[in-house]
Amino acid sequence: MLIGRVAVVFGSDSDWKVMEKCVEQLRAFGEDPHVEVMSAHRNPDRVRAFANAAEENGVEVIIAAAGMSNALAGAIAANTCLPVIGVPMVSGSMQGMDALLSTVQMPSGVPVACVSLGEPGAKNAALLAIQIIARHDEKLAAAYRNFRADQAKRVEAKNAALQERFRQ
Ligand code: RP5
Repeated sequence: MLIGRVAVVFGSDSDWKVMEKCVEQLRAFGEDPHVEVMSAHRNPDRVRAFANAAEENGVEVIIAAAGMSNALAGAIAANTCLPVIGVPMVSGSMQGMDALLSTVQMPSGVPVACVSLGEPGAKNAALLAIQIIARHDEKLAAAYRNFRADQAKRVEAKNAALQERFRQ
């Protein structure tokens, strides 16, 4: 059963407000990701089954987000050879520091690519997934190059506007 080249999974529906940005970013590049709530602590059997089957289901990159004691990305990485991108969520009394450390401190041998906390990380996870898939999809690679060029142009336009204000 093919479920999409990118899978976006997160530990709770309370993560959706942030992870929606990830899905939007993927859709902006024409990707239709598989989206699912699963929890390494609350329904670990589903996490394992998903990770075990992901490759044969056509997934190429998995984005996994969770807050607090974030075990999701690591648990998935332990059960697949696909690249896994971990997004630490800002939640709980430690405001994401716990999730950041859990995501970034994987033991050697089971990599998780940890992106920024929260919304910037959600968007960057999508972009990193696009970069990975674009290595064998020239159309996607061209779209990504355009995205970066447009971004650079927007910064230059903002700088030009600022310089103009200084001159007045
Ligand atoms: C994590 O705990 C989830 O990923 C979420 O960020 C956090 C809180 O989950 P809920 O209690 O809102 O379901 O596992």
